[in-house]
Amino acid sequence: PSPPTIQLEGRHYPTDEWTNLPSHISSALSRKLHLQPSHPLSITRRLIESRFPGPTYQYHNNLSPIVSVHQNFDSLGFPIDHPGRSRTDTYYVNKDTVLRTHTSAHQADTFRSGTSDGFLISADVYRRDAIDRSHYPVFHQMEGARMWSRDGCKARGGVAAVIMEDIESMPKHGINVEDPNPPFHEKRNPLQVEHTPEEAQAVGAHLKLCLEHVVAEVFGLARAGAVAAGGAGAEGASEEPLRVRWVEAYFPFTSPSWELEVYWQGNWLELLGCGVVQQSLPKNAGVPDKIGWAFGVGLERVAMLLFGIPDIRLFWSCDKRFLGQFKKGEISRFVPFSKFPPCYKDIAFWLPRSGSSVGGQVSFHENDMMEIVRNVAGDLAEDVKLIDEFTHPKTGRKSLCFRINYRSLERTLRNDEANSLQQMVKRVLVEEFGAEVRE
Ligand code: PHE
Repeated sequence: PSPPTIQLEGRHYPTDEWTNLPSHISSALSRKLHLQPSHPLSITRRLIESRFPGPTYQYHNNLSPIVSVHQNFDSLGFPIDHPGRSRTDTYYVNKDTVLRTHTSAHQADTFRSGTSDGFLISADVYRRDAIDRSHYPVFHQMEGARMWSRDGCKARGGVAAVIMEDIESMPKHGINVEDPNPPFHEKRNPLQVEHTPEEAQAVGAHLKLCLEHVVAEVFGLARAGAVAAGGAGAEGASEEPLRVRWVEAYFPFTSPSWELEVYWQGNWLELLGCGVVQQSLPKNAGVPDKIGWAFGVGLERVAMLLFGIPDIRLFWSCDKRFLGQFKKGEISRFVPFSKFPPCYKDIAFWLPRSGSSVGGQVSFHENDMMEIVRNVAGDLAEDVKLIDEFTHPKTGRKSLCFRINYRSLERTLRNDEANSLQQMVKRVLVEEFGAEVRE
């Protein structure tokens, strides 16, 4: 049960049955890693910003993470039953207020303010999620958008013509792009009724070219770094041209939509989502005459590749051996200080029959386990996996088994420390979820 109010960034918010904000999350609000000048996330942010110069683009790096459900979901056209809205996926301050799950939460307001043709919004975002080396419940995104006024382009042949001119004037990037997708597709990736085919095609082409330039720059630097450091993937990296590909996607607030993937050390990695802005957004924001594109890129993903950072928890480290390695404006390869040993612990338990209610809790989601472990072990938890699950044929009770990997990035964890963390996890499962631990 939560206290009647919680204080966040100096304001009191009433709590209710939707509140699910643990203290280890609310304490992250003040870190603002993307604003620490020599932090790799800030260096990455500035590198991308340099590809989108003012005055065309305005930067917003200080917007509050506490937003309304309306901003985060409704304003973007998320249907009422969208899974992203559930308490298992999103941190609720109360029924009307969430920690933003993406920087798109600020699109509508920024369109409404209408102070520039384009913007970049960098910010911390919050999602309940798995625990492993590339997932953390707090991460950072950069939202980008570019809009054109149809009226303002009339004298120059219309929006599509103006955009095509801009495209012609952009330099070549020399990377290898696979894009088998049509500019839009009637069923899979439709043209909006408000747009002409020429407009959608021009906006989409401009969007893709701008983002290809970002990738060419960022990955050119990352590969140069990997080659210089002689690290994994360095062999052949200098000769092989960079490969990227566009994949059709779906977002409620863009159409057509795509994702951009890069081929990196043997795998296709998803880097960002983007598309042609749904006309309902500028319309509802009082600028119906504007048309354009938006993208959202995960900054940790980019920074991990750029600096060779192997574990997402490192971004949160206050250890000088981590922070001392980076300097404002410089891309360098992370040098691991040491690999400390892992400590694996399994835990198996029965859940109460569904329908029975213990401590107000009636169901158990995998993300509830993640949350318990985060709360107890903080950054000492490296990875949590569901390794077994079955339902007893007679009693109908469900049994789950999780394997937790405890490991500190800064020192060797003692076995008795891991044991006592494990004991605490068990206690929470029993007391808050009515679980019966199987020994
Ligand atoms: N907000 C989307 C996400 O977090 C990314 C996105 C941004 C997609 C802007 C389209 C346009 O997945």
